Amino acid sequence: MNFDIAADRRNTNSIKWNKEAIENISANPVAEPFWVADMDFYPEMHIQEAGKSLAGQGIYGYPSFPKDTAAVSAWLRTKHGWILPKEKIVFAQGLLHALSLSINIFSEKGARILSLSPMYRPFREIPARNERELIEHDLGYEDGSFYLDRDRFASDMEKADILIFCSPQNPSGIVFTEEELAFVLETARKNHVLVISDEIHSDLAHPGAKHIPMGLANERVGADCITLFAPSKTFNIAGEHCAFAVFSDSEMEEKFRKAESALWLDEPGISAGELAYAAYTKGSEYNKALCRYLGETADAMRKYLETNCPGLRLVNGQASFVTFIDCSGYYQKIEAEVIGHPERYKGGNGGGILSRFFGVAAGVAMNDGTWFGSSWYNFVRFNYGTSRDRVMKALERMVRAVKAL
Ligand SMILES: Cc1ncc(COP(=O)(O)O)c(C=O)c1O
Repeated sequence: MNFDIAADRRNTNSIKWNKEAIENISANPVAEPFWVADMDFYPEMHIQEAGKSLAGQGIYGYPSFPKDTAAVSAWLRTKHGWILPKEKIVFAQGLLHALSLSINIFSEKGARILSLSPMYRPFREIPARNERELIEHDLGYEDGSFYLDRDRFASDMEKADILIFCSPQNPSGIVFTEEELAFVLETARKNHVLVISDEIHSDLAHPGAKHIPMGLANERVGADCITLFAPSKTFNIAGEHCAFAVFSDSEMEEKFRKAESALWLDEPGISAGELAYAAYTKGSEYNKALCRYLGETADAMRKYLETNCPGLRLVNGQASFVTFIDCSGYYQKIEAEVIGHPERYKGGNGGGILSRFFGVAAGVAMNDGTWFGSSWYNFVRFNYGTSRDRVMKALERMVRAVKAL
């Protein structure tokens, strides 16, 4: 559990560390990656052992997992205080699969899907690929903090059939309070909107912040609600494609199970079952230490930028390992630099002005804010799920790059 040691992930078939993919967003194939949302930490020891033991068998035939979600139920109870019988927890082949399938089952083509922006890109793509209409709702932003603007939100919810909610929110890092969740759920109930809450980052609230599962908050409200979560971000095992769903009523749950089974998608592959089980049964101490480490890294980043470069500002998130950095203090200069020197910043067509600038001038590859919606061109998303040393060195290079303009 020494998070100061980051894994060397070059040559591990990781998309985050893939040079072509890095060049596509940053115009520099050798920029250091701080983008795709997985971490450079080794998973907890028992998870690694489960993986090694599986690999050591040298044979990978059909597994015989008992379809038992007791470990998941125990995790929800101890980590989040959500007491739920194991029978209520439904396996899914990854969170986005569960989200997309839910949208297919519980809405018709043309349905209106509201999602909060800055928005994790698949929340835009899922409605588009499934011929639904997206209603993009910009979060409020003031003084380094994103927030839910209740009046605007309530008014947009009147036009929606489904709300894709993300809690904690990627990339702003908002951890919603119980009162905010109740407001969201009550607004949904009033407008007959189905709430689908993506809680893939829920186990990574920093010390001082408390995540409340939407399904738990909904026990007092009774809206139509699907809560989705996964061990993938929590334990850095996202390649396994394993997630879980909890439904606010048994009719919805039955429909989902039936659709999954009709598609033959209701059983985990061999590694997902092994890794998720090891994670949920043995990962508690690792998780506590990781939340502390991430919170401390975010504090160190904030302090460093405040002291050395207030024109770059870490937004006030409270969870996970991805954050927006507000670059509005330098945007105009950066834009003039990139547009004025097309040769220097050529390539990087999958990125934007800021991601190309920092890719080339600082050797730091990040997602451009526009990946999360056109309003957010002033921001980059930085993934600090790696050793603090690497993070701070990357920030130093970013600061040097903007000061040299
Ligand atoms: C908010 C959010 N949802 C879903 C995913 C992806 O989930 P999965 O790989 O289980 O489909 C990510 C990955 O970055 C994410 O940040």
